Amino acid sequence: MTTAKRGMRRNLTAYGDEEFSLFLRRAFIKAMGYTDDALERPIIGITNTYSGFNACHRTVPELIDAVKRGVMLAGGLPVEFPTITLHESFAHPTSMYLRNLMAIDAEEMIRAQPVDSVVLIGGCDKTVPALLMGAASANVPAILMVTGPMLTGNHKGERLGACTDCRRFWARYRAKEIDDQEINEVNSKLAPTAGTCMVMGTASTMALCSEALGMMLPNSAAIPAVMAERMRNAEATGARAVGIAKERLTPDKIMTPDALENALRVLLAIGGSTNAIVHLAAVAGRLGIAVDLDAFDRMGQETPVLVDLKPTGQHYMEHLYEAGGLATILRELKALVKGNALTINGKTLFQNVEEALPPDRQDVVRTRDNPIFKAGGIAVLRGNLAPDGAIIKQAAASEKLMRHTGRAVVFESLPDLADRIDDPNLDVNADDVLVLKNAGPKGAPGMPEAGYIPIPRKLAQQGVKDMVRISDARMSGTAFGAIVLHVAPESAVGGPLALVRSGDRIRLDVPERRLELLVDEQTLAARRSEWRPPAAHDLDDRGYRKLFLDTVQQADRGCDFEFLAPKVTMRIPRTP
Ligand code: FES
Repeated sequence: MTTAKRGMRRNLTAYGDEEFSLFLRRAFIKAMGYTDDALERPIIGITNTYSGFNACHRTVPELIDAVKRGVMLAGGLPVEFPTITLHESFAHPTSMYLRNLMAIDAEEMIRAQPVDSVVLIGGCDKTVPALLMGAASANVPAILMVTGPMLTGNHKGERLGACTDCRRFWARYRAKEIDDQEINEVNSKLAPTAGTCMVMGTASTMALCSEALGMMLPNSAAIPAVMAERMRNAEATGARAVGIAKERLTPDKIMTPDALENALRVLLAIGGSTNAIVHLAAVAGRLGIAVDLDAFDRMGQETPVLVDLKPTGQHYMEHLYEAGGLATILRELKALVKGNALTINGKTLFQNVEEALPPDRQDVVRTRDNPIFKAGGIAVLRGNLAPDGAIIKQAAASEKLMRHTGRAVVFESLPDLADRIDDPNLDVNADDVLVLKNAGPKGAPGMPEAGYIPIPRKLAQQGVKDMVRISDARMSGTAFGAIVLHVAPESAVGGPLALVRSGDRIRLDVPERRLELLVDEQTLAARRSEWRPPAAHDLDDRGYRKLFLDTVQQADRGCDFEFLAPKVTMRIPRTP
């Protein structure tokens, strides 16, 4: 088995003569300037996810330098190699469409090259799940580090952060509350440093969940990107990568069912991004573990939202860092978390918490008896409109809309939404329910973050701030609103969402976890027989797009490709 071999002997290129393969490999690697002594060391791969298009990863080159220093101080040989990188705003049609491609790239490069362990450098939303998915499948010792969150900006004395404030200011601009000059000024201040979005969006959520999962060094998720501490964390990560190579500490020993449940628990307690449910389902899926949405909802009902960060609260990631990061959260969650789960530094989750210094005082992480939101920050809905489930982040929504019945105003697709949402003649009122179809995994394709359907301009100008919105799309973790997402099955595969027509009545009842289309079954049956799938496949579909459309699974299976996930052998969270 190639996996039993170390260093340059791992994963030899096939020439039919292993000793010749090694001879040739050493000849070529020596052209990089390495000595025989260096080549005898544990070889530590480092994923280089830098790109000129990815400001969230702007610091990757200096982080790689620090990782290399750590590897060499610990006696290893660091070798960086490129993988695909993804930035949210530079991935057409949407970064989710490309996440699985990055996961395949990471998996196959880890597997193809002679690395005894690998340092995964992620940060922007899709990069962390893609790297974890790839690492889980390759099952070579791996340690994750993130680039870290940005610092906040300032506008007229007010703190600003990407991207909750991007959306807030854009909504004000649409409502003509601010002019062209001010929106341009704000545009220059929303992302003031390198690093990932500094609110509780998907990047911050996945960083904290990955630390809870045990795949990162303790208390590293919240360190801001531009701080010296981030560099020291990179050096320590490099040093530990040599340790896990020697110990053969593979991802399957860290990403256990207990650890994955801890990640789900932390997702709920931090009021994290709904996207993380999809990503954690995909990571778990690579290990033959499915996320049971109803059990996740039950877990939510006993988990308070504790972290006072935008968009559900007030603060930003730099404040969570000052407040002690994940350790402060885990201290509050002690009774709810599986503290014996092994983490990447060889200690358990709670050993790490005990070793972390508690902050003198902090006001970012609430106590369990004084939460931001009592329970069920993310709720799972069922009903005839979402037989396989839908999600709502009620912690970031208007409470008065959590029980609401209204008339559907339907948009058939993203182009239809763009064409009509601001039409002054659109027949829409504040208590209507906006419905977007064909924005799911296959429909869009790629399940874009289009679930945050904008308030129609004419209503925004009247001061309407929130409406019930329903789609099979995702939503940025930085957004706020009464927004039902991930409706499954999606409309493009004939889910009931496909049958909704403007004028139908829809009932949302979050306390009862219901999402109902109030149309009689006979009418629905007639519509079903008339329904034809949208032309998702063009005749000339080829390459990755064809692979994606043919094999992507629904949101409840993490939108992974069906051939990448092994058979499900367990469902989590297990009944508490
Ligand atoms: Fe990269 Fe927000 S755009 S984390």
